[in-house]
Amino acid sequence: MIVFATSDKGGTGRSVTSCNLGYRMCVKGKRVAYLDFDFGSPTAGALFEISGAERGVPDNAGLHSYLQGKTGVATRIDVRDSTDRHQLRKLRTRTGKLVLLPGDSGGAEFKQIDNGIVAKCAQLLLEVDQSFDVCLVDLSAGRSVAMELALKATALPQLAERMVRWLVFHRWTRQHIIAAHGLVRGEHGLLDGGKRVGHDPDALLDRVRYIRTAVPVLNDETEGSGPQAAWLHEQHTELKRLALTNKVGASALLGETPVEPILQWREQLILDIDVDRKIANRATVEAFEKLADRVLDPASWKPV
Ligand SMILES: Nc1ncnc2c1ncn2[C@@H]1O[C@H](COP(=O)(O)OP(=O)(O)OP(=O)(O)O)[C@@H](O)[C@H]1O
Ligand SMILES: [Mg+2]
Repeated sequence: MIVFATSDKGGTGRSVTSCNLGYRMCVKGKRVAYLDFDFGSPTAGALFEISGAERGVPDNAGLHSYLQGKTGVATRIDVRDSTDRHQLRKLRTRTGKLVLLPGDSGGAEFKQIDNGIVAKCAQLLLEVDQSFDVCLVDLSAGRSVAMELALKATALPQLAERMVRWLVFHRWTRQHIIAAHGLVRGEHGLLDGGKRVGHDPDALLDRVRYIRTAVPVLNDETEGSGPQAAWLHEQHTELKRLALTNKVGASALLGETPVEPILQWREQLILDIDVDRKIANRATVEAFEKLADRVLDPASWKPV
């Protein structure tokens, strides 16, 4: 399964949520590859806490160089072997694997893409999809060249039979809901851009699900019952309405993550030990687990 992670806005929680989903899938025994296609800012190595790869890898060994044909192989880093988090190194899973394909440390956003880059991308996706259960691709935000590349590569016949999914991340605010809708349904968005390169927009739409990130938890204990609490509840209802009219709710919604204090301070994997030590909230891990299950569950992808 190839899963593209995208968002209209930057800073939506796309990377942090995706890497935690990849980790949870690995814990469940899945072989997961994480491809850093955020070409302008390839910092996935920092999320996995891999020294020396925090902002991609040197010596033209990353995805930028691979896609441009400067190297025949893209670096693959086994996260559990290379991370600085020793609890993650100790993780035992019989079959699970978590491998990062980082960008180049000097890599920048591609100005444009030619057929050569598209062919390389398709070849890479095919190879990775054949040797892993899940190929998670973190795309640059917005109507980016990375999104165009993903659409063009998956429109090629060699990828036609592969299972491809799109996750659209957004924060739980007015602007983000409207932006997520625009990224998928607006001009030059996913459906429009997909159609231009040969995708059937209806089939593409069936492969799209939304994830709300860092959603504040409203309850009497945290919010009390004064005017502020009443206002917050009203806004929450208003956002739910907006999500429905922008078609990012109902069955198009895959799920959400709660606000997690750790992640407000530090981008990282949340391990079970963080919960056991009462540093991270259990609800956050449960949300990642639920999302990981839903991505993998065919029932989540029935046409909406
Ligand atoms: N559930 C959460 N609760 C609180 N903070 C969160 C949560 N999820 C993500 N964050 C934080 O939000 C910030 C943005 O997240 P992240 O870097 O994953 O977003 P992004 O969409 O990948 O951004 P970019 O476009 O810059 O790549 C980070 O500091 C991250 O730790
Ligand atoms: Mg990111």
